[in-house]
Amino acid sequence: MNNSNLGKTVVNFLLLLLLVVVNTTAMAKDYQRAKWDPIHFKPQIETATDQQCLACHQEILDRKILKKSPAGLDSSQALAWYQTLGTYKGEQDTFHRRHLVSEYSKEVMTLKCNTCHQGNDPKDETANSSETTPKDLIQRKMVDPKICLACHGKFSGEAMKLKDWTEVRDQFNNNCLMCHANILKNRHNVDFLNAEAIEAAGKKEGDVCYGCHGGRAWYSISYPYIDMDEDEWIQKHQRKE
Ligand code: HEC
Ligand code: HEC
Ligand code: HEC
Ligand code: HEC
Ligand code: HEC
Repeated sequence: MNNSNLGKTVVNFLLLLLLVVVNTTAMAKDYQRAKWDPIHFKPQIETATDQQCLACHQEILDRKILKKSPAGLDSSQALAWYQTLGTYKGEQDTFHRRHLVSEYSKEVMTLKCNTCHQGNDPKDETANSSETTPKDLIQRKMVDPKICLACHGKFSGEAMKLKDWTEVRDQFNNNCLMCHANILKNRHNVDFLNAEAIEAAGKKEGDVCYGCHGGRAWYSISYPYIDMDEDEWIQKHQRKE
């Protein structure tokens, strides 16, 4: 190999190396850019559509649960306490699918990505760690748990002067509408619930009402429905007449 040929080979090699480096950093930048895409944060997230989020996060709806638990239990044989409600249908499914695409969720709710995801900081997931982090972040949470409480709180028996629903439901035929056909009738006028469909379903199946008001209670407290006026999240989602 003469000198000029060697020179050409070295130059070509360097060019190739440059190309590889440029390409990989471009990819790395793409990932970073995607992670920090302003659509994740306020104000953009407030107007984002599900389609925009799913363009990058389709796995949220595609992911399937394991057929067997790591300990070997068949998921088809497992039944959690909250899955004994009359409204529970179908195979075990993921959290996101149960809120967005399960048959029952589509009947009674119209949750969107940004109903729950209101913007969080993936850098440290904590508020007030520096001057520039958002001040109202919920510690180590991507979603404010108060949102969950609205549909997963304890039965508000105290407000109704009733014992726990499981103790009195037989007395009322498991039918909340015995009283609520006339009490607090103006309900569910928010853009993430199908108010009319809920009433229709509640007439057919007693567990519909209880389901969101004690039947899937992840919390030992009730959501304070009486203070709904002060809940910014509920107020933001009020349906405009
Ligand atoms: C351009 C692509 C893109 C779009 C559009 C996008 N995301 Fe992301 N998102 C990402 C990437 C990349 C990450 C980082 C994933 C990782 O590090 O595992 C991420 C992370 C997240 C996380 C985890 C954050 C954390 O704290 O760890 C959530 C939640 C999320 N996105 C929700 C959304 C929602 C809701 C929308 C629509 C409003 C959305 N994303 C739109 C690419 C995108
Ligand atoms: C019912 C409320 C709710 C809805 C609706 C919702 N999410 Fe989530 N999402 C959550 C919660 C809760 C987590 C877990 C948060 C944590 O670990 O702090 C989560 C986690 C995530 C994550 C990161 C973890 C993972 O599982 O990969 C992504 C990405 C995400 N959601 C995207 C979306 C997208 C896209 C939509 C709309 C198609 C959506 N979410 C709708 C509540 C919701
Ligand atoms: C607007 C009402 C509503 C909100 C808000 C809501 N959920 Fe749910 N959730 C439901 C309903 C209805 C079901 C039952 C869906 C079904 O049976 O298909 C459910 C089911 C579940 C399940 C059971 C899934 C399974 O495998 O059976 C979990 C876990 C859950 N929710 C957690 C949460 C968490 C955590 C949040 C807050 C990030 C939340 N939910 C917010 C209404 C809600
Ligand atoms: C014996 C009649 C009766 C029955 C049965 C009944 N309720 Fe109530 N409920 C009431 C009364 C009374 C109030 C309080 C009204 C007020 O303070 O203005 C109330 C209030 C509520 C509230 C608002 C609570 C709050 O925190 O302010 C919810 C939610 C509710 N009921 C849901 C249900 C559900 C779901 C069922 C069935 C599982 C049910 N109720 C069964 C009489 C009843
Ligand atoms: C998918 C979940 C879900 C189902 C099903 C559901 N609720 Fe609710 N309920 C909510 C949420 C969230 C709120 C607070 C938002 C609102 O009322 O606008 C609420 C509020 C209420 C209130 C309080 C209204 C007020 O002004 O204080 C009553 C009473 C109530 N529901 C009764 C019922 C009855 C009766 C049924 C059955 C016909 C039922 N709920 C079914 C989620 C649900």
